[in-house]
Amino acid sequence: MMDASKIHSEDPHVLHASSIFFNKLVEDPRKQKITMGVSSSVPIEIKTLYFPEFEQTLPSLEGKTVCITGCTTGTGFIVARTAVRKGASNVLLLNRSSDRAEKAEQLLKQEKESSLSKSNIETIPCDLQDLESVKKAALAIKSKYEFVDVLCNNAGVMALEDVVCST
Ligand SMILES: NC(=O)c1ccc[n+]([C@@H]2O[C@H](COP(=O)([O-])OP(=O)(O)OC[C@H]3O[C@@H](n4cnc5c(N)ncnc54)[C@H](OP(=O)(O)O)[C@@H]3O)[C@@H](O)[C@H]2O)c1
Repeated sequence: MMDASKIHSEDPHVLHASSIFFNKLVEDPRKQKITMGVSSSVPIEIKTLYFPEFEQTLPSLEGKTVCITGCTTGTGFIVARTAVRKGASNVLLLNRSSDRAEKAEQLLKQEKESSLSKSNIETIPCDLQDLESVKKAALAIKSKYEFVDVLCNNAGVMALEDVVCST
């Protein structure tokens, strides 16, 4: 098992994603309600040492169109940021509209500047709980981009409280 004390990063998005993961490892689930994969999770001070090194081993994504669902935060944001850093030609952010989605696009555009990437970064509104919204997103992509090389179906929640639906 990875040593949590060796995780090292100042990045709040890495912290958020990794903290959720390590919450699971270090806490007794019988004593604490785990909100894994849910934005309400409270980040804890855990740092990542391994991801930056791993990221450097990844090949260039030049010429590729990469679509990521749910990249306002967590692992989706990290995938989008990595695609930008690796110079993907198009990085399409499939997010439901919110301040978080706007902020993520803004941060990724800053990342583009600082990493001298040439990526085209575009948010395509897409709420996965609304099939019409998903269809619109697919049509928007199809009308503008010739190929999708990578579709990262990241969005989702997990380990929610088990609630019985009565309606
Ligand atoms: N973290 C882990 O340790 C772990 C382990 C195994 C699997 N996973 C899976 O990995 C994925 C990402 O996990 P995470 O921890 O990074 O989650 P997270 O930080 O909670 O991020 C979830 C992302 O999904 C988006 N999303 C949720 N519902 C959506 C919808 N209806 N339409 C569009 N986007 C939606 C959220 O967007 P908003 O900002 O709009 O809410 C957010 O960007 C999830 O599918 C999770 O189940 C995570």
